[in-house]
Amino acid sequence: MEKTIEWIKTNNFGYSKMIDQTQLPYIYKKISINSSKDMYSAIKSMIVRGAPAIGIAGAHGVILGAIESLNCDNFVENIKKIASFINSSRPTAVNLVWAIKEQLKVLEKNKNEDRKTIIDLLIENAIRLENDDIEINKKIGEYGSAIIPKGATILTHCNAGSLATVGWGTALGVVRSAFEKDKTIKVFADETRPRGQGARLTTYELTKDNINTTLITDGMGAYFMRKKMIDVVVVGADRISLNGDCANKIGTYMVAIAAKYHNIPFYVAAPKSTIDPAIKSGDEIVIELRDEKEVTTINDKPICVSNVNIINPSFDVTPGALITGIITEYGIIKPNEIHKLFTK
Ligand code: MRU
Repeated sequence: MEKTIEWIKTNNFGYSKMIDQTQLPYIYKKISINSSKDMYSAIKSMIVRGAPAIGIAGAHGVILGAIESLNCDNFVENIKKIASFINSSRPTAVNLVWAIKEQLKVLEKNKNEDRKTIIDLLIENAIRLENDDIEINKKIGEYGSAIIPKGATILTHCNAGSLATVGWGTALGVVRSAFEKDKTIKVFADETRPRGQGARLTTYELTKDNINTTLITDGMGAYFMRKKMIDVVVVGADRISLNGDCANKIGTYMVAIAAKYHNIPFYVAAPKSTIDPAIKSGDEIVIELRDEKEVTTINDKPICVSNVNIINPSFDVTPGALITGIITEYGIIKPNEIHKLFTK
């Protein structure tokens, strides 16, 4: 399977290679990232986006930091400093924190090895995380496909597909696994303003796989629910608290409320690494505020007067009470039982 983001090994350690998602669907282009500063920018500018993909970018950022620290007096401390710099690129997706921590564990465990060996071990660990991501998404897909009725129309928001992960996807992994068994399923994809991940990315990857996809704007979901044209909602997540509240792309909460009103099951598909064991409720999740220009322009063209007030939160939190189940690699779990994954 082609990876959205991967570490390319060379004689000189290597570099991170990723699809530039800011160019899609117009241009499909892969870029190489060779420094921790460029990795910070790639995450912040959303060249790489989607919680699991950002996590892998963070893991690669630590390797780049280690390569840059090779001749520093304080090798280990310098890597940690760069790791926290990468960590500050975007605040909401916990997968970034998680993957960086996975790398720092390797660093800590092997800090007495020689520097080149440590870098090789960080590379090995990052490639393991990449491969695990695909395997986990396949498991999520397998569990999730069981809740997709034959011929169902699935509504999704944002892009939780192969582009948001290393491959296969979480919410769209469920769609892909369901499609393997039933070619008649359909997807309604929310446009997902302001960045248009649904319009630009979800429709791109699903139509490429010949999955019947209809693009709708963000305000249309409830209309189609009332018309009984939506059977189930499946979305991804960026951070899940221990009580099962789920942060995901702005607009998800509104979809969940509409689904509840119309008695339509609402599922969140996410790996365990998206659950933050340090927070009890969604109120503790830091919501990223992004550039006003994302709201005031489309394709760099202004769509409003310049003297209007703008606020641009990138995520919202859907309370666990609105969520039918969280589809993980361990099975489908009720939001109020998600904490049990940490007592196993
Ligand atoms: O701002 P983005 O594009 O990084 O936001 C992505 C989402 O909200 C996804 O739904 C989420 O990360 C899950 S990806 C499997």
